[in-house]
Amino acid sequence: MSSTLDFEITLTERPATADERARILADPGFGRHFTDHMITIRYSADRGWHDARLEPYGPIPMDPASQVFHYAQELFEGLKAYRQPDGSVVTFRPFMNAARMNRTARRMAMPEMPEQLFVDAVELLVRTDHAWVPDAEGHSLYLRPFMFATTRGLGVNSPADEFLFMVIASPSGLYYPRGIKPVSVWLSQDYTRAAPGGTGEAKFGGNYAASFAGQAEAVAAGCDQVVWLDAVEHRWVEEVGSMNLMFVYGSGARARMLTPALTGTLLAGVTRDSMLTLAPDLGIAAEEGKISIEEWQSGCASGEITEVFGCGTAAIISPVGHVKGNDREWTIGDGEPGEISMRLREELIGIQYGTRPDPYGWVHKIV
Ligand code: COI
Repeated sequence: MSSTLDFEITLTERPATADERARILADPGFGRHFTDHMITIRYSADRGWHDARLEPYGPIPMDPASQVFHYAQELFEGLKAYRQPDGSVVTFRPFMNAARMNRTARRMAMPEMPEQLFVDAVELLVRTDHAWVPDAEGHSLYLRPFMFATTRGLGVNSPADEFLFMVIASPSGLYYPRGIKPVSVWLSQDYTRAAPGGTGEAKFGGNYAASFAGQAEAVAAGCDQVVWLDAVEHRWVEEVGSMNLMFVYGSGARARMLTPALTGTLLAGVTRDSMLTLAPDLGIAAEEGKISIEEWQSGCASGEITEVFGCGTAAIISPVGHVKGNDREWTIGDGEPGEISMRLREELIGIQYGTRPDPYGWVHKIV
């Protein structure tokens, strides 16, 4: 393994038994169970990245004055490991996650990490805990790299200079237990997720904490997810929940797809990027642009917009069936998953699970 650091390896003395693991893998849910090991790598301004370890999964001692607890200086990534038909295990575009983590790190005044070290850390954990990669259809090992400021002190005038990077892994079933049944979405006009110049394009926990009140409002309105609109005019569609949004116009050979452009307030999703690559190769023109809630509603009323779906690593593709806001409500198509959404989903899943060829070199074999 080529790496910029050598990992010190300490295996757990109490790994889950095969029976315990089988019980968990039979119904893993999402993000509820964790594998036997984790990765830790420390950073300090004077030593750079050092002290790389694979160690037993468990609690970490933290000073209560660590800056992350007070000023939320942290970030995270999310990717998955997939079981292949021959039993081997792959990850999907891990260098994209590494590059995005470094973009987030720059925005959050945190240290960047060599991309190869990020990928080596993720792969070492997967290789060690590969027995935890599920083989049930649609299941995977969700990998959660994250980093936070451990500098002790409450001052904010000098940036933190000590950080801990970690990777944990969670065997996961479907993100939405209801599968691909379309979700209903709530147009949030009270809350915004991100403003120009803010942290919207960073994969930073604060963006998610700030979204929970809007998500609670969506649930109170009887919807599954919240749609985020732009912070200035409250009419340009940005994201849905923690996913990017795709709009399909027309159908068959004339179908085309539009997704909100990356303006700095949206997350640059790996699945979003994969959709933009896959769609044209399936004969579906794909573009990045702008769409307002008025255009969304009138496009559905005229039949011009035929399908809408959210996409992200966790849920892959989640069709949107119904939209609701303070003063409006409408259904997309017949409220059922659309043909284009399902074709794109099948294609992506096929590449990830090794049942279709990968002409893009996206899958990264680990074991
Ligand atoms: C993803 O879909 O990749 C996400 O970021 C969802 C995660 C916050 C659970």
